[in-house]
Amino acid sequence: MSKPILFSGMQPTGKLHIGNYFGALKNFVDLQNSGRYQCYFFVADLHSITAEFVPNQKYRQTLDVVADYLAAGISPEKSVIFVQSQIPEHGELTWMLNCITPFGELRRMTQFKDKSLTQKENINIGLFDYPVLMAADVLLYDTDVVPVGEDQLQHLELTRTIARKFNAQFKKIMKEPEPLLTEVPRLMSLSDPLRKMSKSMPEGCLFLDDEPEVIREKIKRAVTDSDAKVTYNPTKKPGIANLIRIYRGFAGLSIKEIERKYADANYGIFKRELAEVVVEGLRPFQVRKKLLLRKPSEIDRVIEKGRKKAQKKATEKMDQVKLVMGLTKKATPKKMA
Ligand code: TRP
Repeated sequence: MSKPILFSGMQPTGKLHIGNYFGALKNFVDLQNSGRYQCYFFVADLHSITAEFVPNQKYRQTLDVVADYLAAGISPEKSVIFVQSQIPEHGELTWMLNCITPFGELRRMTQFKDKSLTQKENINIGLFDYPVLMAADVLLYDTDVVPVGEDQLQHLELTRTIARKFNAQFKKIMKEPEPLLTEVPRLMSLSDPLRKMSKSMPEGCLFLDDEPEVIREKIKRAVTDSDAKVTYNPTKKPGIANLIRIYRGFAGLSIKEIERKYADANYGIFKRELAEVVVEGLRPFQVRKKLLLRKPSEIDRVIEKGRKKAQKKATEKMDQVKLVMGLTKKATPKKMA
C-alpha cells in the first residue's frame, strides 16, 4: 500500500516569524519525519499575487520560502518541494472547478470578506477566486490530508464540497481531503500582547532571520505588567504569558516547569534567559539558511527536482479531468485479441 498523500504550502510574502514556524513549518517537518505520508510542500506564489506585490521581489521571496523549508528540515529526498506557478495545471484546474463552484459559496468566505476590508483598493477577482485555486492545488495531487491552521479550515471545507460536486457531476475521480488541524500557539506581539504577532508590527515580532542582538533587544523591550512574578495568567498578565509560551515552544518545557524554574526570578532574569533560549533555538536554522542562500544553485536544483515530480502527477490528473468532463476524446478501446 502506498502512503497517504499529505499536501500543504505557504505563500511567499516576506519574512517568516516564529508564529509561522510553530504554526506551520515545524509541523511540516514533524509530519514529514513521521514517515507516515508522501509529502508535497509547495510555494503558493499564485495565491500571493492576489495581494499587492512588487514584481522584482516575488521570485526572491519564493526562493526564500524554499530556503526556509530546507533550513527547517524539509528534505528533497523525502518530500516533493515545488513552486505553484511552475505547474500550469494549477491554473487550468482552477478554471474547470470555477465552472462548478457556486458564486454564493465563495461570497461566504470569511477571508475574502476580511481582505475586502483590509485591501479595499484592490478587491480583485483573484482574491475572490483564491479558495478555488486552493482546491485545485489540493485536488490535483489526490491529496488525503492537508495540515492547515484554523484560518484555512473554511477553504478546505469548500475544497471538499467542490470535490463532491465534481464527483457527482462527472465521475468519482476527486479524493475528498481531510484537514489536519495543526495547533497553532497563539503568539502575541511583544510590543502589544493583546494583538497577534505580525510582521506588520516588526518591533513586536521575532523573525526567523533576526540576528541574536536583535532578538535580545526585542525581548528586553517586550511589554510586561508591573507584578514581577513569572506566572502564567493570560488574562491578567498577557505579556508574560506570551513570553512563557515562546519559551515553551523553544525549550520543550511545560508551562508548569517554566513557572517552577523561574519561581524566584524577576522579569529581567527571565527575559535574558528567554532571549538565549530563542537565539540558541533558531541558531541551527539560521546557520543552514545562510549556507543555502550562499549556494542558490542548490536551491534551484531542489526546485527543479520537485517541479518534475509534481508535473508528472499534475499532467496525469489533468488528463483524467479533461476526459471525464468530456473535453477530450475517449481513448480508443483496444481491439479484442
Ligand atoms: N492559503 C494557504 C495560506 O495562506 C496557502 C495555501 C494555498 C495552501 N494552497 C494551499 C495550504 C493548499 C494548503 C493546501 O496559508
